[in-house]
Amino acid sequence: ALIDCQICDLPKVHDPRGSLTFIESGRQIPFSIQRVYYLYDVPGGSERGGHAHRKLHQFMIAMSGSFDIVLDDGFGRKRVHLNRSYQGLYIPPMTWRELDNFSSGSVCMVLASEFYTEADYMRNYSDFMCEVHSAALRQSQAAH
Ligand code: TYD
Repeated sequence: ALIDCQICDLPKVHDPRGSLTFIESGRQIPFSIQRVYYLYDVPGGSERGGHAHRKLHQFMIAMSGSFDIVLDDGFGRKRVHLNRSYQGLYIPPMTWRELDNFSSGSVCMVLASEFYTEADYMRNYSDFMCEVHSAALRQSQAAH
């Protein structure tokens, strides 16, 4: 759900030589890390994402520069701006996301709970909406 998509402050060790931030699998983030990937050399005006994941948990950090993430759980949308190396955005499964507004030189690092599997992607928005709403309907029927 959208409420679970939160920006978290990571530990920051600051001294005159500079700052240091760390992330330990399963500690500062709510899953164990199986994969790390990053987006860089993003041309101005580019849009990325445009999909959801069935099972994958992700944690996204603006390592350098800034960008926006539009999050959609099928019931609402919100836009989040990331621009600090010591902050990250948690994205649970079944969240549609679109990335845009990349500043020049920005780097988006993503920590992921699973290896890359194309079968985990939902790349069609109306299929995503159908799946989310039919799951919600099943849940409300089971509750009665
Ligand atoms: P995709 O996840 O669609 O990019 P975006 O970040 O814009 O959503 O991935 C783009 C391409 O890269 C796609 O062909 C799959 C490939 N890819 C991998 O091979 N491994 C990975 O870990 C990721 C994230 C993508």
